[in-house]
Amino acid sequence: MSSPLARPLTLPNGVVIKNRLAKAPLTEGLADGWNRATGRHVALYRQWAAGGSGIVVTGNVQIDRRYLERPGNVVIDGNGGEAALAAYAQAGTANNTQLWMQISHPGRQTPRRVCAEPVAPSAVPLALPESAFARPREMTPTEIEDVPRRFARVAAAARATGFAGVQLHAAHGYLLSQFLTPLVNRRTDRWGGSLANRASLLLESVRAVRAATAPDFCVSVKLNSSDFQQGGFSNEECLAVVRWLGEASVDMIEISGGNYEKPAMMGAATDSTRRREAYFLEYAALIKKAAPVPIMLTGGFRSRAAMEAALDEGACDAIGLGRPMCVEPDLPNRLLDGRSDAAVDWENRIVPAKAALGWFCLQLLRLGDGLAPDTGLTGEAAIGRYLQNEEATAAALLGR
Ligand SMILES: Cc1cc2nc3c(=O)[nH]c(=O)nc-3n(C[C@H](O)[C@H](O)[C@H](O)COP(=O)(O)O)c2cc1C
Repeated sequence: MSSPLARPLTLPNGVVIKNRLAKAPLTEGLADGWNRATGRHVALYRQWAAGGSGIVVTGNVQIDRRYLERPGNVVIDGNGGEAALAAYAQAGTANNTQLWMQISHPGRQTPRRVCAEPVAPSAVPLALPESAFARPREMTPTEIEDVPRRFARVAAAARATGFAGVQLHAAHGYLLSQFLTPLVNRRTDRWGGSLANRASLLLESVRAVRAATAPDFCVSVKLNSSDFQQGGFSNEECLAVVRWLGEASVDMIEISGGNYEKPAMMGAATDSTRRREAYFLEYAALIKKAAPVPIMLTGGFRSRAAMEAALDEGACDAIGLGRPMCVEPDLPNRLLDGRSDAAVDWENRIVPAKAALGWFCLQLLRLGDGLAPDTGLTGEAAIGRYLQNEEATAAALLGR
């Protein structure tokens, strides 16, 4: 019997995805000094499209250059670069790949090296060193109303340059996720208070994106199953938001969890989760029951057996793969044709563990430069080189 991973998936808008494997969003850091796409994106996405994933979601592309997640982000805000985006889209949609642009605003998670005063629903600083993230200021109603318009403009640009869809980033503590949590959203106007109010920026942004694109253009949302913080966005609240997203006719929801303060998306919390690999498996099954929207589940999948079991159990419809795709861009092809049974769990081999994010980011820079991954890179060397790259990229930013 053929693997459930090889089964096509029809989305609510009628688009057919060729298989159940998806490359999860991974920030690339490859933009030029004007935050435009480059030939390095083309080189990277050509490899991922050839690698066999049904869906490839890009790293987060910012809707506002004042608020970057890192200095090398692509931004679309009238800064030109359409020809480079079109080349990027052409490379990433080869091999019948659904290339979706993740669109994002980091809010208070904008690092100090690119922004002295980030914005947030309320002026609640991150419980992380102030040297890395400056204290945010509360957004004005006018600034909030501008957000859905910016998401819509970027989605329209994505469609015009050849991307097959977008994914609004409403997970991991970014701006839309900050609005969802009462810990950061303490507003008393129509954007805060009840869950319906806290979710309204996300839902208005989804509706604006739908209105600015076309029915065959896929609209997805990345959402936390929970923030895993006392008093934060809970799984119960997630189930309600998923229902509303279903009514807003999104084509797929990617489920993750956590944020910069509580990075649940990067590791298993319990032994039982570790055994089943997928960090948010139980939550995904509940979410799938709550709304008839296809669910992509990301976080922890490494073996074909665990991926097939999640699909067979009906916990999700697609498997998101993040870190493995930084080192093995052709992993989907090898899982599908039986050459591989599992990805290498590089994250468990990197010492010190705090170096892991930089280690994976540096592998993406290498792929963008046409080089093979450097699996001999030590954690210590990765920390230094990653910081050096971020500082140099920040220093080279033009037009700010
Ligand atoms: C280097 C790196 C960059 C990432 N960039 C993004 C991003 O831009 N947007 C996003 O939603 N998640 C991002 N993530 C999180 C991944 O999409 C995914 O949720 C996480 O890595 C867990 O999946 P995995 O266990 O398959 O790696 C990133 C993760 C890593 C390691």
